[in-house]
Amino acid sequence: MTYQIVTLAGDGIGPEIMAAGLDVLAAVAKKIHFDYDLKDFPFGGAGIDASGHPLPAETLAAAKSADAILLAAIGSPEYDKAPVRPEQGLLQLREDLGLFANIRPLKIFPALAHLSPLKADRLEGLDFVVVRELTSGIYFGKHELSEDWAEDINRYTHSEIKRILRTAFRLAQTRRGKVTSIDKQNVLATSKLWRQVADEVAKEFPDVQLEHQLVDSAAMLMITQPSRFDVIVTENLFGDILSDEASVLAGSLGLMPSASHSETGPSLYEPIHGSAPDIAGQGLANPISMVLSVAMMLRESFGQETGARMIEEAVETVLAEGVLTADLGGQASTTQMTEAIIQNL
Ligand code: IPM
Ligand code: MG
Repeated sequence: MTYQIVTLAGDGIGPEIMAAGLDVLAAVAKKIHFDYDLKDFPFGGAGIDASGHPLPAETLAAAKSADAILLAAIGSPEYDKAPVRPEQGLLQLREDLGLFANIRPLKIFPALAHLSPLKADRLEGLDFVVVRELTSGIYFGKHELSEDWAEDINRYTHSEIKRILRTAFRLAQTRRGKVTSIDKQNVLATSKLWRQVADEVAKEFPDVQLEHQLVDSAAMLMITQPSRFDVIVTENLFGDILSDEASVLAGSLGLMPSASHSETGPSLYEPIHGSAPDIAGQGLANPISMVLSVAMMLRESFGQETGARMIEEAVETVLAEGVLTADLGGQASTTQMTEAIIQNL
């Protein structure tokens, strides 16, 4: 079987890290006899340049019929005043593909522990996943902006909350069996419903422990007691904020991959960082979150556990050997780090 993979290289460092991820994919695919076809489509700023819209119709159509989608990064200051911004394309892609479950795992690499803003003892046992609801909430409510006032509506239905909670509980069953549901139920109606649904879903999973945290204290606990978390589940906006906070605990924003799943269609894999326009085109970008997104794709879309592990172990080895890009305090270029990962597969 030949799998169809759609790639969206996007803007800024996007094309460089996509090339790195695809080089690693090609090398692994040879070893595990994984057959695939690649097709790249314009998206984000590149979509605006190609057709006037960040999500051109042919890009959307290709994404819908793909077996999996790899996205690098989008956005650039040059589109700040564009009628439709690149980010709009990303939100529309998530919505049109129904990618409601965004999985953002955090892993600490021992070789990078000294780069973490946390003291060494707090890194012990630190291993959690943020499950972010991705297609509803305040991101997708009505947005209105006038001169004197502005509003953004936050709305969640019972079933939207239930399906993301179920995703989190199922994931916890494969890990340490704990879900932390994060809300702001002392203020928000959506959070009151969220907490109620979390308690309902918990009854379906007697083997998983559920704890509730308010988002403000959760932000604090992520710094003071990060190892208490196993699976964190939360609404769209809180998940956006907390996953950026989580990502830097590992020492750089350039390390964390992500997967976004729908109920039945193709999944999308992307680094959690942005397009870093300040270093674009210089060969300085850290390719690791893209490379690890490829590993997640092999495991979660194609059941290729061996290939996924091969990549993850190679990344760990390369970091331990001190092949480091600038964000990690080293001098390796994007290509040098990618080559080193390939050598260690
Ligand atoms: C992310 C990004 C996006 C988001 C932006 C680019 C719209 O920050 O994937 O976390 O807010 O979801
Ligand atoms: Mg974000």
